[in-house]
Amino acid sequence: MEMEIRALKTQKNAIIMAHNYQPLEIQALADVVGDSLELAVKAKEAEADLIVICGVRFMAETAKILNPERKVIIPVLDAGCPLADFLTPDMIREAKKRHPDAAVVVYANSTAESKALADIVCTSANAVKVVASLPNDTILFGPDSNLAAYVQRELPDKTIIPLPPGGHCYVHTGFTLVDVEAARRKGGVIICHPECPPEIQERSDLIASTGGMVRGAAGEGEPWSVFTEREMVSRLRVLYPGRIFYEKPEAICVDMKKISLDDLRQALEREEHEIILSREVMDRARLAIERMIAVGA
Ligand code: 13P
Ligand code: SF4
Repeated sequence: MEMEIRALKTQKNAIIMAHNYQPLEIQALADVVGDSLELAVKAKEAEADLIVICGVRFMAETAKILNPERKVIIPVLDAGCPLADFLTPDMIREAKKRHPDAAVVVYANSTAESKALADIVCTSANAVKVVASLPNDTILFGPDSNLAAYVQRELPDKTIIPLPPGGHCYVHTGFTLVDVEAARRKGGVIICHPECPPEIQERSDLIASTGGMVRGAAGEGEPWSVFTEREMVSRLRVLYPGRIFYEKPEAICVDMKKISLDDLRQALEREEHEIILSREVMDRARLAIERMIAVGA
């Protein structure tokens, strides 16, 4: 199967990009593995005829928006992100009416239609930097209320309004104080994703995006208890053999596990499933994503 996929990749002049939460066998076949921001930047630069995104739908949409002349496909169409579905375009429109002076910052984990209404997009790698770059005192921030709380703590002079108030990722809100206590008994460092609830963030030693975890794990401090989707730890073990990492076995993003090797093979063979978005939505969303890329990581 792997050889077939590699042959199809060459034949189609395709590039395969995988998120850090993808199963290891998919990561092993990818040309690029990274966090949401890294995938977006690489997708923008890609010159291949076919861009295959192994992740969830918003990542494929972002790739299409940034590189609209290329064919962008996702092997399984219903690989979504429940967090992204918390925020609707109508919520943004209504909140803008209530807060006309506020800037709208939309997390990458959102639909293309929501991004099209944003002043700027952010990922977990650059949310603080993005908000700090804005002149507005008030920020409408969605859909992740825990990431919003993290930004609020880092930037106390801003007023961050979460949109909607309870938007969250079920994988990250699954981390509890019991997990913190268990990790403390093991010793070492707790690193959490900013989608974890505030009480977990406050008790962690480090807070980082998945890309930040890859970079940070090169440093000191052992063992590492990693509070995010468990596949992150599989990747860290590949990158840093010999170092000790602990995952939470129940921390699984179901949608990130929907793409199998056979789905990837079929997707390459049939060039399916193509991401199609309206030109108007893409043009507006691109402005907001490119503003984010200009701010940097
Ligand atoms: P990263 O941008 O940190 O990879 O996060 C994406 C994500 O979906 C986290 O759950
Ligand atoms: Fe969405 Fe959570 Fe899965 Fe990330 S881990 S893709 S935020 S559901």
